Amino acid sequence: MLSPVGSVINPEQKGYLWAVGGGKGGTGKTFVSANLGLHLSAYLDVTVIDADLGSPNLHTFLGVKNRNLTLADFLYRRLQLEQVAARMGHSKLRLVSGSSDTLGLGNLEHFRKQRLLRQIQEMRSAVTLLDIGAGTHFNCVDFFIIADVGILVINPEPASVENAYQFIRAATLRLLENSIRKHKIQHLLERIGAYRQEVPRSIHGLLELFAKEDPGSADLLAGELEQFRPCLVVNKVRKDDDVVLGRCVADLVNKFLAVRAEFLGAIPFDEQIDACLRCFTPYVTSHPYSQAACAVKLIAERLMTISRDGRRSSLMVEPADEEAGRTELLRSS
Ligand SMILES: Nc1ncnc2c1ncn2[C@@H]1O[C@H](COP(=O)(O)OP(=O)(O)OP(=O)(O)O)[C@@H](O)[C@H]1O
Ligand SMILES: [Mg+2]
Repeated sequence: MLSPVGSVINPEQKGYLWAVGGGKGGTGKTFVSANLGLHLSAYLDVTVIDADLGSPNLHTFLGVKNRNLTLADFLYRRLQLEQVAARMGHSKLRLVSGSSDTLGLGNLEHFRKQRLLRQIQEMRSAVTLLDIGAGTHFNCVDFFIIADVGILVINPEPASVENAYQFIRAATLRLLENSIRKHKIQHLLERIGAYRQEVPRSIHGLLELFAKEDPGSADLLAGELEQFRPCLVVNKVRKDDDVVLGRCVADLVNKFLAVRAEFLGAIPFDEQIDACLRCFTPYVTSHPYSQAACAVKLIAERLMTISRDGRRSSLMVEPADEEAGRTELLRSS
């Protein structure tokens, strides 16, 4: 079903990069990535990338059984990412699939991850979608913060909400750290190191600390945070009340984390999704008029609008080498 393709998209074109993540496992990140990709590829060139290095399964949601080229070929055989993006039949959709060879890559070497992050940002598709693994580890968060839009998939249950908050918090701190490096104001990092025990839990408090230390740089950092737009999707919704949850989490994030979170929409629970998965049938194309498929389509439209309205300036800095220097920010949080 898959055939490898090279550079088939206008090299001048700079598309949108979206990442789908979340602190908790099993919320539906891969379902959302796959089906957003499938839907948009009806009219756009789309590449979906399995960035879940621990347990890649994006291909399954797309109905793909056999993969010739995978992320392992990019990571270890020095192929370019564009070269391992395999076109799905005659569609506008390409897939960079994970492989069992990438299992256990939770601790991907720094230089390999940098190469991957760089080439992800250079993909020549109208939309590139990253399916990220569960957790707040750097290997998840770093994919999330390079995206123009980060999509957080949560479920209507308390643990999921808490994890979402923690995930956005970890991403915000990582983003701050990268911004500090980008603007070469490392003295703020050192300051945080010294004040590690005193760093308040709210990001607003952290920005106040920066403002006292160096008001100009604090403004720069606040500006960077303004461009960070985590978006929330509530998935597996069974009753109307569940929908409210998305707005609640967005409000919580806006209040305490100094970033503007947006609620994108809710996707109902549908047992057909699992049934499709079991027989390798892509959901949104086989159930195009179901409530869940319509919800995915609405979310895709909202994402296109958000992406058109405001793009983030590039965060192409070298994120911290976690082997060499662990982030003081995250440790102190
Ligand atoms: N809206 C939904 N209704 C019913 N089942 C769903 C829905 N969304 C996802 N699922 C099912 O939930 C399970 C987990 O989905 P998925 O693999 O997309 O989650 P994930 O967040 O990517 O998990 P992981 O953290 O392991 O990567 C799958 O069996 C999937 O079919
Ligand atoms: Mg997944």
